[in-house]
Amino acid sequence: MRPSALAAFVAQADEVGNPSSLHAAGRRSRRIVEESREALAARLGVRPNDVVFTSGGTEADNLAIKGLYWSALAADPQRRTILASSIEHHAVLDAVNWLVAHEGARVEWIPATRAGAIDVEWLEEYLAAHAPDVALCAVMWANNETGVIQPVDAVARLCDHAGIPFHSDGVQAAAWLAPATPWRAARSSLAISAHKFGGPVGVGALVASGVTPMPLLHGGDQEIDVRSGTVATALAASMAAAFEETAARREGEFERVTKLVELLERSVSSVAPDAVFVGESSARLPNIRAVTFPGCQADALLMLLDAAGIACSAGSACTAGVPRPSHVLLAMGLSPTQAEGTLRFSFGWNSGEDDVAALVAALPAALDRARHAHRGRNARQAVAGTS
Ligand SMILES: Cc1ncc(COP(=O)(O)O)c(C=O)c1O
Repeated sequence: MRPSALAAFVAQADEVGNPSSLHAAGRRSRRIVEESREALAARLGVRPNDVVFTSGGTEADNLAIKGLYWSALAADPQRRTILASSIEHHAVLDAVNWLVAHEGARVEWIPATRAGAIDVEWLEEYLAAHAPDVALCAVMWANNETGVIQPVDAVARLCDHAGIPFHSDGVQAAAWLAPATPWRAARSSLAISAHKFGGPVGVGALVASGVTPMPLLHGGDQEIDVRSGTVATALAASMAAAFEETAARREGEFERVTKLVELLERSVSSVAPDAVFVGESSARLPNIRAVTFPGCQADALLMLLDAAGIACSAGSACTAGVPRPSHVLLAMGLSPTQAEGTLRFSFGWNSGEDDVAALVAALPAALDRARHAHRGRNARQAVAGTS
């Protein structure tokens, strides 16, 4: 956590006072929650009333996908189709699949191009033919595995024209690209999560403008009836402090982290000249770089680098542990072998050149062992296949 976020958390964690209570302690908590909401809204370029605190990005995405689907359906039973990009995070992907399995929804996955962005022409053609059937459209602001920034302004315009709500998962992008005002659709929602910008784990927000998702949680009607549950004052204050610092330092950080990733690219290329950088031709977030290492399994490389003190990811960290090729990379047209050989390096506010140096020191030996293991595995499979 950023020190400012930790300080804000600690200052509130020991306070009593439910922000919904009427006594003085409750009112003090309420003031902190509302100031946090206002600070976030100002940095995001939205109205404070649009900010609904949640337990994180996953809840914000679920609230948007399920809540907007149910709202659309209640207004018009014909609207059963969900348009979602094929490269969404599982928080969106699995929420959509759940609605299909349990709530009679239909889904159309918006294809991605080899460059890692969604195919806007496909979306335009689909909406021209089927808009009256569509409940909502979901396209993330930037992808968590490749960092590729999605054409959200074009999607917002298409959704506005078609009169459908647009949800964007901004969990990775908000720290780098907010305020969101330029692209926002008239009826839109945006998911953010504090731990992506130096805030605490366990808090996020859904920014909902011109839409009211049906609630997933029922209880005390907090957060303008959209999200029941006592608002966690310390977490809200800490998230606002983290976002404030992130936004205030954004320009310098953008440049610093871009240089860091360029250093990573040069260093990786010198150790592994055959490494391929994913989404090379696309506009990307500065802090995420996916690299395909031919001739090895990324999860083996990940474990070897981990033993050297380097934490990186294969596929999405949220599904790590389940060895299957990333749906994002497959949707971009990578082969399963290429997808399985792809590792993701992410940088945060406290990453520095020494982190890149540590990676460069550990990579040659790790790569050598991972490739050796891969050759051995292929040979064993070949023998098993012929016996
Ligand atoms: C793009 C994206 N969406 C959603 C999430 C889930 O957010 P949270 O961990 O706050 O539930 C993540 C987490 O990594 C993410 O990268």
